Amino acid sequence: MTENIKQGDFLPEFHITGGAGWINDPNGLVYYKGEYHVFFQYHPYGTAWGPMHWGHVVSKDLTSWRYLPIALTPGGVGDKDGCFSGTAICAFQKLYLMYTGFEENGGGEAVRQVQCLAESEDGVTFKKLGVVIGSDDLPADFMPCDFRDPHVFEKDGTFYCLVAAKKVGGKGRLLLYRSKDLKRWSFFSDALGFDSDGVMFECPNYVDSLGLLMVSDQLPAPKEDGCLNVHSTRYFIGKMDFTVGRFIVENQGVLDYGFDFYAPQSFADCKDSIAIGWLNMWDRNVPSVKYGFAGMLTVPRRLSVVDGKLKQEPVVMKREVFKTAVERSLTDEVMTGVIEIRAEKLKNFELKLRCGDGNYTLIKLVDGAIEFDRSKSGEAIVGVEKDELSLSGKRKMPFTRQDKTTFTIVLDKYSVELFDGTFVMSSTIYPPKTAIGLELTVNADSCVYTRYDVIK
Ligand code: FRU
Repeated sequence: MTENIKQGDFLPEFHITGGAGWINDPNGLVYYKGEYHVFFQYHPYGTAWGPMHWGHVVSKDLTSWRYLPIALTPGGVGDKDGCFSGTAICAFQKLYLMYTGFEENGGGEAVRQVQCLAESEDGVTFKKLGVVIGSDDLPADFMPCDFRDPHVFEKDGTFYCLVAAKKVGGKGRLLLYRSKDLKRWSFFSDALGFDSDGVMFECPNYVDSLGLLMVSDQLPAPKEDGCLNVHSTRYFIGKMDFTVGRFIVENQGVLDYGFDFYAPQSFADCKDSIAIGWLNMWDRNVPSVKYGFAGMLTVPRRLSVVDGKLKQEPVVMKREVFKTAVERSLTDEVMTGVIEIRAEKLKNFELKLRCGDGNYTLIKLVDGAIEFDRSKSGEAIVGVEKDELSLSGKRKMPFTRQDKTTFTIVLDKYSVELFDGTFVMSSTIYPPKTAIGLELTVNADSCVYTRYDVIK
């Protein structure tokens, strides 16, 4: 008897993908007419990055997603070769997308990146309105070939737009523009006033209610405390002074300590601050290409700022299916779902996930840090990072000992997202389907293990 194999059998259970084809950054996250809309950088005709379209899914519960038609296709004024990343905003009873139009022109400094606008009344079909911030709107010492990822937001009746840009002969900056109608923009300020660590900033996202600015950075120097990926995302906490257009940084940190996280953004027009990132990384092989898709998005995370520090917790609809106290160790079976481990006075901890046929993914406490090891997680993922931890398949995340510790682990077929209430670590893994064993060893005053199914 032949097994009836459907492409869907190979897709993640509850993480957003393109279905088929390549995806990268989440775009245009917005709550519009009772649904959460997520757009994403999408190449529908291949499993490698190519001419960028905007794919589109919607959800009522942030867990179960329905595909809508492609929202933006390259080929218009200013976006001949791609509709790059951007954001959304509801205004004047319509849904607007602001995105980067990309024209290659043979590459290098001849590339043109401009900011374009599109509008929709039904949230499904979009009409392009053309270029609204062009090369001529750049201050003279900035390069028109590296000018992208507009983040549009409204404050006290004025629209603002943060755009990543590169100084001539220099590094990345975040430029702030102002408008009253989303169509006519004028340059306001250099919003951060300092350079990117790496060669260029990408995908800025400002959450006014939290005083939070998230920004991705291309090719920062590798640092063992969290920036080991070839590209990395930081957050700044502080205050935007709208009188001069300057964000005053009070605190900063790393958004995610895992292998696969980039370009997060938060939902616009939503009462909660909820963000989604790209659960993948540039310049690595993606084993799922053989199933016809590459790239997925993280589960949504609720963001809050406590004592000047960013906290993140996963948002997934889930149902408890198994709960038990753990004396010292426990075994279970799970491929997809949510695992919660609550411990009092945690001294030591080791968790093996997706065990089977010699494969496993290891999370353990080592010298006051959480270590994630995917060196035995199935198919190899090889990147350009050359530091020792990356080469040995490991990532580390800080861990603060407290009286009570809760680890929440969101597991899908190809991913592990670990939350400890403060820090997060997200990585992809590609073990065989048969590897579903879980082994937990814990040394704590008490420990409770709970397994949930994700409800779709
Ligand atoms: C970030 C990024 C953006 C750009 C998009 C192109 O991952 O490089 O800067 O708009 O991807 O797909």
